[in-house]
Amino acid sequence: MTELGPIAWPPAPIRTERLVLREPEARDRAAFIEMHASPEVHTYLGGPRPRDELEREMPEVPGRRPGSFVVDLDGAMIGQVLLRRATEHRRPAAVGKADLGYLFLPRAWGFGYAAEACEAALDWLDSVLPGEPAVLTTQTANVGSMRLAAKLGFTEVERFHAWDAEQWLGMRSAVMSSD
Ligand SMILES: CC(C)(COP(=O)(O)OP(=O)(O)OC[C@H]1O[C@@H](n2cnc3c(N)ncnc32)[C@H](O)[C@@H]1OP(=O)(O)O)[C@@H](O)C(=O)NCCC(=O)NCCS
Repeated sequence: MTELGPIAWPPAPIRTERLVLREPEARDRAAFIEMHASPEVHTYLGGPRPRDELEREMPEVPGRRPGSFVVDLDGAMIGQVLLRRATEHRRPAAVGKADLGYLFLPRAWGFGYAAEACEAALDWLDSVLPGEPAVLTTQTANVGSMRLAAKLGFTEVERFHAWDAEQWLGMRSAVMSSD
């Protein structure tokens, strides 16, 4: 994965009804460690990382790069939405496309926050790279993620086997402005 391309980064914080999407800050470090050490978050992502390793290796300001949004609820990080370019995807249909990823702390699941944040990130993508489609890969067993992908308008391109599980590649066409 690499950065998206010629875009101005960071954008001004993106406000939705309940959330703010913004650049990561030093105060998010504990939430990043919690998220990456969480077995629940990593059930379908190859397993969590040891907390002591994360404490040692996590940068002072984690996850700060173009396309990496912290999702903030009432001033605290609840998750991360990522838009990167899939330079080395296993499936040719995804290579070179903008790739959506999302990780939320378990206490923030079940409120529609992930859907609200991902919609806003995809709207931002439409605004900075008009006409750009997005892809998303998730395990088919990851029911919450599959539901979210459908809600966001991703449709199946193909299923494939990788990382010892069935994977789903979805694509979302860009919303083209009519004027
Ligand atoms: C995948 C993941 C982001 C989904 O989170 P989520 O909270 O279930 O997703 P949504 O934001 O779409 O919320 C959906 C739920 O909120 C409920 N909800 C409650 N209030 C709501 C509101 N105001 N608006 C919308 N939905 C609301 C919905 O009914 C829905 O519940 P359901 O799943 O029981 O039907 C989350 O499980 C996660 O972070 N998993 C770990 C990381 C991961 O696997 N990422 C995928 C990598 S490809």
